[in-house]
Amino acid sequence: MASSISIAILLTLINLIGILCDAQLVNFNDGEVMKSLVSEQREFDYFLLSLQWPGTYCRTVKKCCSQNGCCRGSNGPAGFTIHGLWADYNDGTWPSCCNGPQFDETKIALLFDELNTYWPTLSCSKSSSCHGSKGLFWGHEKHGTCEFPYIKDEYDYFTKALSLYFKYNVTEMLNQSGYVASNSDKYPLQGIISAIKKCFGTPEITCTGDAVQEIRLCFNKNFEPQDCFFSSSCPSYISFPVYSSVGLENDGIAKWFNA
Ligand SMILES: *[C@@H]1O[C@H](CO)[C@@H](O)[C@H](O)[C@H]1NC(C)=O
Ligand SMILES: *[C@@H]1O[C@H](CO)[C@@H](O)[C@H](O)[C@H]1NC(C)=O
Repeated sequence: MASSISIAILLTLINLIGILCDAQLVNFNDGEVMKSLVSEQREFDYFLLSLQWPGTYCRTVKKCCSQNGCCRGSNGPAGFTIHGLWADYNDGTWPSCCNGPQFDETKIALLFDELNTYWPTLSCSKSSSCHGSKGLFWGHEKHGTCEFPYIKDEYDYFTKALSLYFKYNVTEMLNQSGYVASNSDKYPLQGIISAIKKCFGTPEITCTGDAVQEIRLCFNKNFEPQDCFFSSSCPSYISFPVYSSVGLENDGIAKWFNA
C-alpha cells in the first residue's frame, strides 16, 4: 500500500491539509515499514483488515517475553493473526489519530483472551499510541478513532475486527484450496489471489522476499467484502513458511495444518 503512494503526492497532501498527526510516523512494531500518516477528519472510504502470517514474522524475532505470540511453542498462532482494521482512502492514504478518547485498556479487558489468541503481538517491544504513551500492542491501533460512526468506540473496534476475522477465515479458505504452510513448496501468487477473490474480493498481499507477510482484505462501510485497490508486492511464486516458535527448539515446529 505505502509503496504505491509517491512521496510527492503525500507531501502535497500534507501541505494542503496542514494538520499533522502528533505521531506522524507511526512506529508499528514487528518491523513493519514506517508509514507516513496524514491526520484529518475527512471521512475514510473503506476498511482494510490486515492479517499477518506468523510463520514469516517469527523467523526474525530474537527475543521472547510472555506477550510475544512467536514464543508459544505448540500453542503458537494457528494461521493468520490480526494486525489491524484500518480505515483507508481510495487514493492510498489513510487517516490516523483522529479526535477521540485515549486508548483505555480496561475497556477491552473482556476481550483479552481472544485478542491474545487471534491478535497477538509478534514482538516484545512496547507500542506507542496516539498520545505518545507506550503500552499494549493493541494501543497502537490509532485507526479506530477515524472510523466513527461506523465504529462506535474502542470495544466496538476490536469486536468488529474479530468478527470479520472469524467470518472471513483466510487460513481456512487457503487450506481448502491446497495452500498450506510449507518450508519447501511455493505457490503461484495469481492462484492465491484468484482463490481469495472468489470468496472475499481481491486481496492485497505483501511479502518479505517470497514469504507472505500480510494478506489484507477490503470491506465497504457496511462491512461487506470489496476488492482492494492496490496490487500485491510479491514475486510470482510465494511461500507460507511454517511457524517455528522462538527459543523453544525442541518444540519448535508447530504443525498448524496437521495438528
Ligand atoms: C480458521 O480456520 C482454521 C482452519 O480450519 C481454524 O483452525 C481456525 O480456528 C479458524 N479461525 C477462526 C478465527 O475461526
Ligand atoms: C486442511 O485441509 C485438509 C483437506 O485438504 C483437511 O484434511 C485439514 O483438516 C484442513 N486443516 C485445517 C486446519 O483446516
